[in-house]
Amino acid sequence: MKNRFYLTAALLGVLCASAHAQSERVQRLVGQLTQDEKISLLSGSRDPKNLGQAGYLPGVPRLGIPELRLTDGPAGVRVAHPATALPAPVALAASFSPTLARRYGQVLGREGRALEQDILLSPMTNIVRVPQAGRNFETFGEDPLLASKIVEEEIRGIQSEGLIATIKHFAANNFERDRNTIDAIVDERTLREIYLPAFQAAIQAGAGSVMGSYNRLNGTFACENPFLLDTVLRQEWGFTGFVMSDWFATHSTGPALTAGLDMEMPGSGMGNFGPPSFFGAKALASVPAEQIDRAVARILTSLEAVGLLDKQKPRPSLESIAEGDAKAAREIAIAGSVLLKNEKNCLPLSKSDLQSVAVIGSAAKTPMIGGGGSASVVPLRSENFLTALARRTGSAASYVSGTDLDGQPVPASALKLDGTESLNFVGDKGLKPEKYTWSGTLTAPSDGTYALKLQVKRGTARLTLDGKPLIATGMFFGGNDSLLPTNDGLKNGSVAVTLKAGEAHQVTITASAGGPFPGMPAPDGLLEVRLAWVTPERRAEKINEAVSAAKKARTALVFAYDEGTEGSDRESLGLPGDQDALIAAVAAANPRTVVVLSTGSCVTMPWLSKVAAALETWFPGQEGADATAAMLSGEAEPGGRLPVTFPQRLEDAPTAPEARYPGVGGKAVYSEGIFVGYRHYDQEKVRPLFPFGHGLSYTRFTLSGLKTETLATKAGRKTRISFIVKNVGKRAGVAIPQVYLGAPDTPPVPMATNALVGFERVSLEPGESRTVTLTLGDSALSYWSAEKHAWAAVPGSRPIRVGFSSRDLPLTGRTQ
Ligand code: BGC
Repeated sequence: MKNRFYLTAALLGVLCASAHAQSERVQRLVGQLTQDEKISLLSGSRDPKNLGQAGYLPGVPRLGIPELRLTDGPAGVRVAHPATALPAPVALAASFSPTLARRYGQVLGREGRALEQDILLSPMTNIVRVPQAGRNFETFGEDPLLASKIVEEEIRGIQSEGLIATIKHFAANNFERDRNTIDAIVDERTLREIYLPAFQAAIQAGAGSVMGSYNRLNGTFACENPFLLDTVLRQEWGFTGFVMSDWFATHSTGPALTAGLDMEMPGSGMGNFGPPSFFGAKALASVPAEQIDRAVARILTSLEAVGLLDKQKPRPSLESIAEGDAKAAREIAIAGSVLLKNEKNCLPLSKSDLQSVAVIGSAAKTPMIGGGGSASVVPLRSENFLTALARRTGSAASYVSGTDLDGQPVPASALKLDGTESLNFVGDKGLKPEKYTWSGTLTAPSDGTYALKLQVKRGTARLTLDGKPLIATGMFFGGNDSLLPTNDGLKNGSVAVTLKAGEAHQVTITASAGGPFPGMPAPDGLLEVRLAWVTPERRAEKINEAVSAAKKARTALVFAYDEGTEGSDRESLGLPGDQDALIAAVAAANPRTVVVLSTGSCVTMPWLSKVAAALETWFPGQEGADATAAMLSGEAEPGGRLPVTFPQRLEDAPTAPEARYPGVGGKAVYSEGIFVGYRHYDQEKVRPLFPFGHGLSYTRFTLSGLKTETLATKAGRKTRISFIVKNVGKRAGVAIPQVYLGAPDTPPVPMATNALVGFERVSLEPGESRTVTLTLGDSALSYWSAEKHAWAAVPGSRPIRVGFSSRDLPLTGRTQ
């Protein structure tokens, strides 16, 4: 089936890329390069300058091919030097603003230039399919149209500054579990309608490079998949740039090159702990010269397109652009924050409200600026909410953490270990950088749930309880570490366990100096290790403190967070640690409880009906605290709408069956088909907690006057839709009306109840109204026919619905 699919699609050759896509200059350069020089362009190597970026190519200076630095990532330039930490891409998507996407891209592009980088490893545009997937914060939500509109402008922004943008991860890379091996089984209609459109939009916007993903698609690794890399990318979409592998995602030489992979990353560029290079001199020695030339030419074509083969303009200094970039980060943080609930207009807080505020939750003090993994950025600056609020409003709010993130060292009375009295080797009591093992017993003093915390600095550590591995900390990916280090700077790996008073458990702790990869050198200094815990009594004590603070204040502001990261998926949609219990307790004590969420994607909210307001700020970037203070005090209004559905329960998600996620026997079958995100909840008639597109404003809007018209144009039939949006409230605000297309009475294939086909971000003064006009072309009105292996028109008239979310669609019309 797979091969037939590849072959037929290839034969169709819908849009054959020109065989002469390369310029004369590129052809000449290929002719002038020696074999060694060519090979040096096809896989990464070590950066002599070591600026801390992900990849490096030495270039060929004698021919004017510059050395190239490849940097992550999606939320800011990730090098050793600090850079502007932008709000997470999910926040950008929540702004529903292609204009802001362009600015976001410009910040990435010019800071990349300033920080001596040439290729940006972003944007990421994998559709959010699995609500708990670790990287959902890095991408643009669950809808292909929204993702397309955002990604194309971000790419234009990046490349307008002279960097190559890399669209990633191509394709069907939708979760982290088993990401290096998982086989995504996706039927062709689903691929075409859901998972590929945003990539195609990126290519049409001129993305210079594509990153092949870790996973397999329908049996073949993405980085050697001829359907993806040749049929779709080159023959159909006419892509003339180059494809690089994700880091360590190359699996072969011949098959990969033949399929269309042009560059192996990181090659030998990440020290001596990488696997041998498939695109190194030895491996390429037996490869036909034309294949090597083809890959080289594609790389040069992308360099040429963004001007990297020309004399370079001087790079800007970071100092000269940082203020402007911080302003953009702040504006996007506000434009992307979503006001989920606001009973009795609890928000914004008035001047007098601000005189009596209890701020609760560690995230108010230690902000969750960004997610983890390759998208994390060393921020140029950061501030916490308490200082931002005091600076902005003069309000000296009281603060209590409400939870104990660091815990307390497990006392000697509970921990008996061979060879040591306690496990608390921190600061100048740190250990010589070696390997250690301690074994003994852990005995809890009372019944209940304990958060066990293994903490480490300059090394890695593991804990097993009764022979079972329980905690791994200091790992690159996949351990139990929080993104937030302890107050004294240790990695903090935490797991909750239920223990019975007086029962002794066998415990073994190992610790080892050095980095998370074998062979990685140990950082200078002592190895620090601590075993801490939060007892049930301590947890109650912290919550009680928060409750008394909340009782004394007119308004309780609870800051809650979750931890999105590359390398692992969340185990549940609940807030980590004790946060749900904390919010519930505070809400019971103060009816004016406002929850400010910093989460990478959807979370469940068992306390929602008890709180007055909830504001989702995502991972808001370095300006997040200031933006939040501005929104809560009403100086700005949260302008975002949800780019992902928030389900009531994880079991409601389209990927709840195991065969869909995480898969069985190494395969994840995308059998939900096109019913991803809101399409699923509509199809199954399941009420979400908050629907896709939802978000309140501090003012109110109405919609009226829907008109639909069919236009016969040279380019085919088009449907023009117009309606009026009006601000009927008392302050200026942003409306984001959305247009959805329904299924015809007798659909040729199962179709979504509503599919987003247009939206507009409209700023309106009080009393102001605006007519919004959108035109739908053929592509919006067609479906992918698996019989014809092509787009086909949907016969019959279809409902058009306009409203403020996928579940709030007051205007209805029809296409002709
Ligand atoms: C990630 C990519 C990233 C690369 C380089 C990989 O682990 O999947 O998104 O660009 O590392 O850091």
